[in-house]
Amino acid sequence: MSEAAKMVAQEDGGSEPASQAERSADAGLLWDFWYPAARSSAIEGRRLTTAMLLEVPLVLGRTDKGKAFAMRDACPHRGIPLSYGRFDGTNLECSYHGWKFDGCSGQCVEIPSLTSQDKLKVERIFAGHYPCEEHDGYVWVYLNAPGTLLPETIPPAPRLRTFSGKYKSTHLECDLPSHIDHGIIGLMDPAHGPFVHQSWFWRSQKSIHEKAKQFEAIPYGFRMSPHSPSANSAPYQLLKKMTGAPVTTTIDFVLPNLRTEEIRSGKLWFSSLTTVTPVRRDLCRIDFLAAWNVPLPIAIFRMFAKTFLRQDQETMIQQAEGLKHNPRLMLIDDADRPAKWYFALKSNLLESRRSGTPMTHPIDEPVTLYWRS
Ligand code: FES
Ligand SMILES: [Fe+2]
Repeated sequence: MSEAAKMVAQEDGGSEPASQAERSADAGLLWDFWYPAARSSAIEGRRLTTAMLLEVPLVLGRTDKGKAFAMRDACPHRGIPLSYGRFDGTNLECSYHGWKFDGCSGQCVEIPSLTSQDKLKVERIFAGHYPCEEHDGYVWVYLNAPGTLLPETIPPAPRLRTFSGKYKSTHLECDLPSHIDHGIIGLMDPAHGPFVHQSWFWRSQKSIHEKAKQFEAIPYGFRMSPHSPSANSAPYQLLKKMTGAPVTTTIDFVLPNLRTEEIRSGKLWFSSLTTVTPVRRDLCRIDFLAAWNVPLPIAIFRMFAKTFLRQDQETMIQQAEGLKHNPRLMLIDDADRPAKWYFALKSNLLESRRSGTPMTHPIDEPVTLYWRS
């Protein structure tokens, strides 16, 4: 049973325990979406790199023509990771018996042991391969569920939005020893701020106050409607002073794992794209990508962002310690309502895929949530 199912079941006062087979089959991972697999810089030249997404081992590379590719990191002959092989800029040669595969299609192009008598159709053999796109310095991979065919059309991979020709940008990442569901609800949780992110430059625990934020449905997710950010955060105050214009923030969450934030004030803007990507069922990775034209040096921004991320990471490491022993958990209103929506979106999506009917959205009309933070 996924974390989602477990948490919802506990809210409803418990349900039948799932069988072992069911539990290992359903790790609560969402297939048929784009996930960031690696930084583009990891596959410079003919360098191969490995990654794991949704418990699928991948080998990534770039052809001499510049096209990034992602293959399953297992030779279809006898399973040795293809990443041990040699890449000539087009084909990847397995280190064990030298079978060669086209990087972009995964199609086998040569089996050295075959003689002229052999009838084996080499071109019918494929190594697992996945659609691949590069944006914003990341290699994105579209993961279809094992044993399924790719859909006819695949949406484009997510991109960071920018609002002027010139801007600065940076990225940070960190691993969380958590199931993806805990990673994601941690990301959208508004109530931990005053406790986890107490910093002189951001806010103090004393500044906790009541907030009301409006949320609305968007496809596969929800939006915290454009609003003026919290008056107790110093950087927002500064931004307002600089432009003289009001500051508005829009925060979206979209399945499977995407949080975007846009802060705008006059001509100045800040934009970020954060993803929490399941590596294995007990490990996920946060990738944080930001761009801005606000006069803010990259080094200073990174210092603040790193502090934030480290605070979250330390908290998740501690939480994982507690979760080892399978405690009962709860989600409360209103502070955990976004988490409840996440679980509802996820299960409604799976249900619509299963039944072939349109997905129902857990939010029917704009709703205001109240919490203190
Ligand atoms: S295992 Fe790869 S060629 Fe045999
Ligand atoms: Fe946080």
